[in-house]
Amino acid sequence: HWVVESDVDKNKSYPQIVDAAKILQQDEVVAFPTETVYGLGANATSDTAVEKIFKAKGRPSDNPLIVHISNKEQLEGLVEEIPSDASTLIDAYWPGPLTIIFKNKENVFSERVTAGLDTVGIRMPDHPVALSIIEAAGLPIAAPSANRSGKPSPTTAQHVIDDLDGRIAGVVDGGETGVGVESTVVDCTGEIPVILRPGGITKEQLEEVVGKVEVDPSLKEGKGAPKSPGMKYTHYAPDAPVYLVDGTKEDVQRLVDEKKAEGLKVGVLTTEERMDWYQADLILSAGRRDDLRTVAQHLYDTLRAFNRSNVDIIFAEMFPEEGVGLAIMNRLQKAAGYRVIKG
Ligand code: TXA
Ligand code: MG
Repeated sequence: HWVVESDVDKNKSYPQIVDAAKILQQDEVVAFPTETVYGLGANATSDTAVEKIFKAKGRPSDNPLIVHISNKEQLEGLVEEIPSDASTLIDAYWPGPLTIIFKNKENVFSERVTAGLDTVGIRMPDHPVALSIIEAAGLPIAAPSANRSGKPSPTTAQHVIDDLDGRIAGVVDGGETGVGVESTVVDCTGEIPVILRPGGITKEQLEEVVGKVEVDPSLKEGKGAPKSPGMKYTHYAPDAPVYLVDGTKEDVQRLVDEKKAEGLKVGVLTTEERMDWYQADLILSAGRRDDLRTVAQHLYDTLRAFNRSNVDIIFAEMFPEEGVGLAIMNRLQKAAGYRVIKG
């Protein structure tokens, strides 16, 4: 595992980045930081390379991967067309936490990247380490989050090591990631852009530049056939079951007391402002409720922290579904398997 400063200068050469790029060119997999979460990269044009991602993660093979590029000019050679909404979104939010679904060009990507679909998700990450590695490799890089399938996504190199040590060639350590939840996935192949996965770029930000944007209705209920194949799998889950509580302080405490009476060790996932609201075996804050970006940034690390404890059950507070709150609630609902207890 190599350490690089997260503010690498794009114009300088770093041995760690050169090494990582070489590994990618040899069709091996390597993990690196992006602005959202750590990604597990592989040459997106090689079946052999992409197969290694699925193997290392234990990921179901019908779940397509996001392709990462290091400059906007690369895009034209990879997709069938660039619709005008997509073009507007790229101007506004690339590099950044926004993945756009395009009609893919035939025979460019490994079928293992697209899972046989005629579309492909592409993004240009806003992280100097990621950009430098992709640039140096000179390849489009497929990169899912660098966690074991089903676990919370990694926001530090240590998380990657915890999950994938011995299964990958290495991890480039660029410190903690900034956004903390994955990129927003937006489908621009239809009439109106549709959010398939909420993430770092908010619905409000998208609407600011392209007008009306829809949210894939299957995200809400956690039922139906999601357009983003990855959304149907259990995700982000700590080892102990998580329950979202749609209720008051008293409702949460009552649930905690009931479970404690049954002899269980109980955890509560809350925010800085409410740390002293509850009595439980482990109370963890993900961030500040008055700034949901801080909750997004530390959500996965907090879910992982419950795994290092001995709690048997976790009660989590709800968040308003505005701004990045939509992504936070989506990840919490998935971590909870859509179990919501009404107070
Ligand atoms: O922030 C991120 O996007 C991170 C970092 C590493 O860049 N990557 C990431 O990749 O989250 P992954 O593979 O864990 O998530 C990819 C998501 C899945 O929900 C997948 O179903 C969806 O994007 N996706 C990929 N290609 C698609 C396509 N052609 N059509 C619909 N959904 C697609
Ligand atoms: Mg993932």
